[in-house]
Formats: sequence, C-alpha cells, structure tokens
Amino acid sequence: MKGVCVVGLSLLFLALVDLGSAEADIMQLVIDHAPYLRFDLKQGEGNLCFPHNAQEFYEARKGGDWSRKCNRDYDSVTRGSIPTYWHANTCGYHLHIAYWNFYGYNDDCDCCSGERDAWWEFIVVKIRDWTLNPRMHEVMFGQKKGWYTRIPGHYETFNTTHPVAYVGKSNHGTYHDDGGTGTCCYYEDFRNPGSADKHMVTWDNLIHLREEEGEDWMTDPNTDWWHGLQSPIFRDDWDVCGLMGCTGSSLQVCGTCGCHKSDIGEDPF
Ligand SMILES: *[C@@H]1O[C@H](CO)[C@@H](O)[C@H](O)[C@H]1NC(C)=O
Repeated sequence: MKGVCVVGLSLLFLALVDLGSAEADIMQLVIDHAPYLRFDLKQGEGNLCFPHNAQEFYEARKGGDWSRKCNRDYDSVTRGSIPTYWHANTCGYHLHIAYWNFYGYNDDCDCCSGERDAWWEFIVVKIRDWTLNPRMHEVMFGQKKGWYTRIPGHYETFNTTHPVAYVGKSNHGTYHDDGGTGTCCYYEDFRNPGSADKHMVTWDNLIHLREEEGEDWMTDPNTDWWHGLQSPIFRDDWDVCGLMGCTGSSLQVCGTCGCHKSDIGEDPF
C-alpha cells in the first residue's frame, strides 16, 4: 500500500516537473519566433500610429477619456515599452503561437475612409514537432478582416528565427512583403520602410494574453472600450488550433481576398 503511494507521488512529482519544463520550453519558442515588425517610413507622422499599450488605452477609456490615441513615439517602440501580446496552444505535435499588436487609431486608407479608433492585428506562427525537433513552419499574416498563410521560403526572416512582418501604414495589417499602392484595397496599404528602417523587436516586450491572472483589459467582455471590438480572448479565433489557412477570395479583388496569397489555401493551419 505504502509502495503504491510513494510511486503515485513520485509520478505526480515527475509530471509537475515536466509541466514546468514544458512551460519554459514554450516560453523560449515564443521568444525565439516572435515577429520582427517593419513599418512604413511615414509611420509616426500625422495620424499614422505605432503599436499602443492596450492596458493604457483601456484605462483611459474607462476613466472617461475618449480622445484619439495615436502613438507617434518611435522611441517607445525601440525602447521595448510597447507590449506585444501572445498566447499559445499545443495542437497535436505542433505549437501554434499567436502574437497580437494593438493600435489606438487607424487612419483613412485613402482620402476619406477606413479610419477608426482601436484595432487589433495578429500573426500566428506554427512550430512543427515542438517537443522533439522544433522548427518554425507556416506563418499566418492577419490584415483588415482577413488573413493568409505562407510557408518557409515565402516569408522573410530576421536573425534566422523571427518572421518579418511588414505593417500597413494606415490600417496596420501585417503582410509578408513590402509595397502597396496606397488605396483601401486588400493588399494596398503602403508599407515602404525605405532608409528610415523603422522596426519593432517584439520579443523585447512580450505579455502573455490569458484568461486568468492577466491584465484587466484582457478579460473584460465590454466592447465599448474597444469601440465595438472584442478583446482577442472573446474572438472566434481564440482557439488557435482551429484556424484555417486563409479567408476571402483567391482572386485578387479589392475586397477581402486573403486566399490569393495563401500557400496552403483554406486548409487547416
Ligand atoms: C541578431 O543577431 C545578432 C548576432 O547574433 C545579435 O548580435 C543581435 O543582438 C540580434 N538582434 C536582435 C534584435 O536580437
């Protein structure tokens, strides 16, 4: 009887140790594969905002401050004072890590449409076979109300392990490439880093997006603070194991056409 109990306890202990090291392994993968964001050379001018601190925005709104919040301070981005929010799920042999950036304000994407307060954008990274032979594979780029997925070789990397995402200058979608023609059509938000080379090393400030023990804003279901949006926790894509490779048309049209640039079509991510 006593023997069984001791065996039971040591198994429990081993399981706990294992859990702890799995968490540490996940955290290391989250850091190693966090995206390297590249901004348009005009980012930070006028109403072209850099990522924003979501908790700060939330507190301002709750405190009755409804003024426009646009982060024009490039220093805040390079000093690591603006967080990128992440959460990860193990999906069979693979690990899916979602990285979220918050923006206080999106400017018009043409002369006169597309602006709004509060906006979220995401990038999802798939780490295949994460316990035995981890390697970054598919990367999903989110933009406007859609997304698409690229396979290795079809997106750039920074320092080998970090996917590069180009951020649209007005609406802040993330893309695997630079360019754009400066209209509101799906792939056309400008993103030309030029010699300014403004960028954000997201792994300098990663905050775990979670349902318990996270920051206050994360679990507040009230969409008023976000001007009608939900915090990522309440969105349909919170379960990152169930994502599909793209959304929208596979023809390049002006509206949502994420599938046009998806390497895996609409297959499961
Ligand atoms: C990129 O890699 C180089 C060489 O290992 C290192 O010195 C540098 O700090 C890395 N850059 C960042 C932003 O981590």
